[in-house]
Amino acid sequence: MKLDVFRGNIIQSPADTIIVNLFEGVTVPGGATGVVDKALSGAISELIQNGDIRGRLGEVGVVYPRAAISARRVLIAGLGKAEALDLETVRRASSHAIKKARELGARQVATIVHGAGIGGLDPADAAQAVGEGSILGLYKAPKKNQEPWDVIESLTFVEFDPEKVPFIETGARVAQATGEAVYLVRDLVSQGPNLVTPTRLVQLAEQIAGEYDMKLTVGDRAWAAERNMGAYLAVARSAVEPPKFIVLEYNHGRDDLDTVVLIGKGITFDTGGISLKPPEKMEDMKSDMAGAADVLAAMQVVGRLDLPLHIVAIAPCTENMPGGDAFHPADIITASNGKTIEIVNTDAEGRLILADALVYAQKYKPDAVVDLATLTGACVTALGQWVAAGLFSTDDGLRDKLVSSGSRMHEKLWPMPLWDDYKRKIKSQVADVANSGGRYGGVGASAIFLKEFTDYPWAHIDMAGMVLIEKIQETPYTSFGATGYGVRLLVDFLRRW
Ligand code: BES
Ligand code: MN
Ligand code: ZN
Repeated sequence: MKLDVFRGNIIQSPADTIIVNLFEGVTVPGGATGVVDKALSGAISELIQNGDIRGRLGEVGVVYPRAAISARRVLIAGLGKAEALDLETVRRASSHAIKKARELGARQVATIVHGAGIGGLDPADAAQAVGEGSILGLYKAPKKNQEPWDVIESLTFVEFDPEKVPFIETGARVAQATGEAVYLVRDLVSQGPNLVTPTRLVQLAEQIAGEYDMKLTVGDRAWAAERNMGAYLAVARSAVEPPKFIVLEYNHGRDDLDTVVLIGKGITFDTGGISLKPPEKMEDMKSDMAGAADVLAAMQVVGRLDLPLHIVAIAPCTENMPGGDAFHPADIITASNGKTIEIVNTDAEGRLILADALVYAQKYKPDAVVDLATLTGACVTALGQWVAAGLFSTDDGLRDKLVSSGSRMHEKLWPMPLWDDYKRKIKSQVADVANSGGRYGGVGASAIFLKEFTDYPWAHIDMAGMVLIEKIQETPYTSFGATGYGVRLLVDFLRRW
């Protein structure tokens, strides 16, 4: 579905379906909805008077114009109470409306930008939200032999005020780029670990690097060994699927730009290794590469929007497998900064591969490093599934930026403490640090472990509860399965840096 913008009156739109809106409690529709209502001799007012539509969020009314205008149908999306309007309401209302349009067989849809008029939202943000809710709401996971489902060809934002048009164009462009990046992450996380291997992620990185003229480095085992990445290599040891350490860099050939490094955990399947996971729900561990998918997809958007920053994405990728050559609990390994690690649990593998990635990031002298990882079940216990990701940071400004992007994008982040007290949990008698602590405080222990490998402003996002959701967790534009969490957050953070 392609997004575009048309300046004019929505009743002149050549689309087969047009979408207008209604706030709860409004009896005489105004704005573009009022214009359509008049053109239809009060058909919308009549529905309101009869109580057939009330403007509640989630509601989508349908009116047939009977040739009064060129569109075959008019949908009226409920926006809820005017006081409660925000970007997330706009996304949700838009997704309800576009799903209704698809159900009715629409091909070309035109919509007004909900919230940009009487709603008082910033027109660029509102257009972005309409685009995101619409694109994401239509997503279907890839399935063998499935019929094509992307039947709506275009969604046109109609705006009468010429001054708002350029802003709406920006919002549409950002929504198109990020929406497609979210699709990419959802597809990668949905597909099985036999398909989405480290090698497959390299192919994606190659494609992005080629398209946007980025510098790509792909490290194999020998490359990692030359750099003394003992922590990453310990996890990769028994993987038959070749491990790949991916580094994708965008710098415009300039050296005056701020440097931001994004790191994503790329465990393409986490069995737990010798500390084997129980079989129930082990299949969900196909999602353990969501961090890697996020940072690569974010780079695709960075390239498309040509963001003026020096951005480096690092994705340490490997499977975590048991096997005759697997690393053991009780092994003592050495990370690339020389720190020794006692392995207590081979299932705490994410922090090991991230440790070497965090050390590698130092060479860019970054102004900020953000890592995203499906790191701990403890974080899901603390914050819940599909509620918020845990955020840890050594820099208050960086933390605030991420929290505000998270709330703006409704990809929520909740700040968690990085107290030194957690260090006690990962003390080792035989090494500088242990890779796992005791039963309680597992989130804090994992974050304080990672901090040992940083020497720059750093933030860590534990998104274990956010990347794969069950049916009961569904929200209007995120159906069950892979959510694509993190891409919109990263793009918003980078755009506002
Ligand atoms: N990939 C898992 C964490 C995870 C759990 C992600 C649930 C998504 C949903 C991670 O590698 C892991 O196994 N963590 C262990 C750490 C423990 C052994 C210290 C955990 O959370 O149990
Ligand atoms: Mn694990
Ligand atoms: Zn894992």
